[in-house]
Amino acid sequence: MSEPVNTSRRRTLIAATAVPSVVTGAAVVTPFVASLAPSERAKAAGAPVTVDLSKLKPGEKAAVEWRGKVVWVLKRTPEQVAALEKIPASQLQDPESKKASQPDYVKGATRSITPDLVVMEGVCTHLGCSPTEKGTPGELGSDWPGGFYCPCHGSKFDFAGRVFTGSPAPANLVIPPHKIDGVVLTIGVGQDGKEA
Ligand code: FES
Repeated sequence: MSEPVNTSRRRTLIAATAVPSVVTGAAVVTPFVASLAPSERAKAAGAPVTVDLSKLKPGEKAAVEWRGKVVWVLKRTPEQVAALEKIPASQLQDPESKKASQPDYVKGATRSITPDLVVMEGVCTHLGCSPTEKGTPGELGSDWPGGFYCPCHGSKFDFAGRVFTGSPAPANLVIPPHKIDGVVLTIGVGQDGKEA
């Protein structure tokens, strides 16, 4: 498939992240043990991140940073959800995400807790480049359903992060642990609310 101009009108939002403030510690009395413990800065960098979903409209994508990686929060349109079901399994390397890195509570073609909202790392599973959204059906060829294209070596992913056959990427995009409470998404915790 050739790579025509991106005509997607979807907007990418940069969502606010909730990073705990850095706590200044008391005097260190056990320097050796203290040096082995994670620093407060490191703990803050690994802390869960919350995203306000209330302003995310269908077709929009927010990008947040969690543990040093970009995580996409994509609110899919009903058309995008329906398109996922129609992609033939033969066109996907791992259509049921059996080998994918993802929590067991995201299942099926949508790879999500609710059909519309998918949370996944915006990091190509080949060599770590950032895929670009190619959201318009037909944009990468007549059978292109919309999804993401990695500009480094041409891997293609659908709107659930499933990698198409023929791509150098060996696996679907990674889905981090997350939890949805109403309009609040928390990345970095499991369904029990505990950090994961
Ligand atoms: S890093 Fe994405 S295809 Fe190579």
